[in-house]
Amino acid sequence: MGNESGLADPGRRRVLSGLAAGSGLALIGPYARAAGTDYPFTLGVASGDPLPDGFVIWTRLAPVSGLQPSREVAVRWSVATDEGMRQVVHRGHVLARGGLAHSVHVEVAGLQPGRPYWYRFEALGEQSPIGRSRTAPAADSLAPAHFGFASCSHYELGYFSAYRHLAQEQADLVFFLGDYIYENSFASGSTKIVRAHDVIEASDLAGYRARYTQYKRDPDLQALHASAPCVATWDDHEVQNDYADRWSQDAGVSPQAFLRRRAAAYQAFYEHIPLRRTSLPQGADMRIYRRIDFGQLARFHVLDGRQYRSEQPCIPANGSHRGHIAAPDCADLSDSRRTLLGWEQEAWLHEGLARSPARWNVIAQDLLVAPMLQRDPATLSLGHWTDGWDGYAACRQRMLQAIDRSQARNPVFWGGDIHSFWTTDLHLDSQDPASKVVATEFVGTSVTSDGPPYDAFHALMPLNPHVKFFDSRQRGYVSVTLDERRMSTRFQTISERRDPAATASTLQRFVVEDGRAGALLG
Ligand SMILES: [Fe+2]
Repeated sequence: MGNESGLADPGRRRVLSGLAAGSGLALIGPYARAAGTDYPFTLGVASGDPLPDGFVIWTRLAPVSGLQPSREVAVRWSVATDEGMRQVVHRGHVLARGGLAHSVHVEVAGLQPGRPYWYRFEALGEQSPIGRSRTAPAADSLAPAHFGFASCSHYELGYFSAYRHLAQEQADLVFFLGDYIYENSFASGSTKIVRAHDVIEASDLAGYRARYTQYKRDPDLQALHASAPCVATWDDHEVQNDYADRWSQDAGVSPQAFLRRRAAAYQAFYEHIPLRRTSLPQGADMRIYRRIDFGQLARFHVLDGRQYRSEQPCIPANGSHRGHIAAPDCADLSDSRRTLLGWEQEAWLHEGLARSPARWNVIAQDLLVAPMLQRDPATLSLGHWTDGWDGYAACRQRMLQAIDRSQARNPVFWGGDIHSFWTTDLHLDSQDPASKVVATEFVGTSVTSDGPPYDAFHALMPLNPHVKFFDSRQRGYVSVTLDERRMSTRFQTISERRDPAATASTLQRFVVEDGRAGALLG
């Protein structure tokens, strides 16, 4: 990274903002420190959701001593073609308002396709670190590209070395596939805790903001955001473990009460992620499923696997909506009236696949898609996990049939949630391993979160012959290079999550060839 991200520059030269003169805004100039304001860019910078002519740049003013919610602060931004910020090609200003936690989301446009840019903010007499971003390629481009994806970074369980190593790859685009934060905490005194959460459980706006504030201060996460634009979707822990639409995991919580919690969580997600205005939350609703086109090379269908779900299947008598292993006689598992994506998102996905002009169609989402026959740890009887795609098998079936019908070229799923690496073949009929393979799946392990028990899961693999690779023993991320002929995937592991200086290595490589579903050992 060197000084490119600005993170290694403790000098943080102060600047005089030209905005102060004549703007009428309560902008503090070069004497901010004297007035008691400390460095406002403690959460770093980020960019995301690229188009061929621009991207979103993000920061949030979060000085250690805080800002009054009523205070509006002018923030200057600039975009340059060089990492030293000498050739500035765009600049402007925006107001940071307390209603959105003094976050700013600038949709920069008018840039050249398929090239890097650098950006920086100025406010309260200080400069932010410099971030590197990149526009999407031109619509007809088939130029090779480099991606990464990661999920499940529980702060208490270790350091974000996976993020640091992915940052060093300087990818063209990075995907966060859920559990960017964890709302819950380990019991105080747990020997698992490497660094404790500031707030025990995030459940309201102040709590979720505090959680993001703590995570975003992490230097490895800041380095990753400063290294590449990102595309983020969520899983459950951005709100609450195992929630589905308006249903809490906990028995006895009314949908109305849970939607208030969801509204707070979604707002905090928006405030801390470089999203476009189209994702601005409206109460408890927030649109984050979207398409990102990367030239003609790839179309990313980015899904929301939580907001529109049917209620969890086969809820036990105690009313708990937590995920559990349901026996095959649970009729909900395959009920065609149930949906994981919601009907609108299903139609949107099926249409986006049918009309895709791309060489590769990547469905970027939060979960393991492949069916997985597993054992209830209490009874040892076989069944399916209710909180993932196995709990919504009819929706999965409709999706795989739509892929097959659409003839969308090279469908590949990326996912997270299960804290382990997986490579699977997705069959047209998920009950029939002899049926046609219609898509390939790669699931990344967690950045820090605990993996499922390796030996118990490994013993299940003969029952799940469509699983080509499984390993839950290490933490890490996934690195992908893509060209018109092949997708090359590396499962990357870190040496030790408790070590802030952990090293990285490659656990396994896979290749998917154009025109042929299913991964080959690379
Ligand atoms: Fe997770």
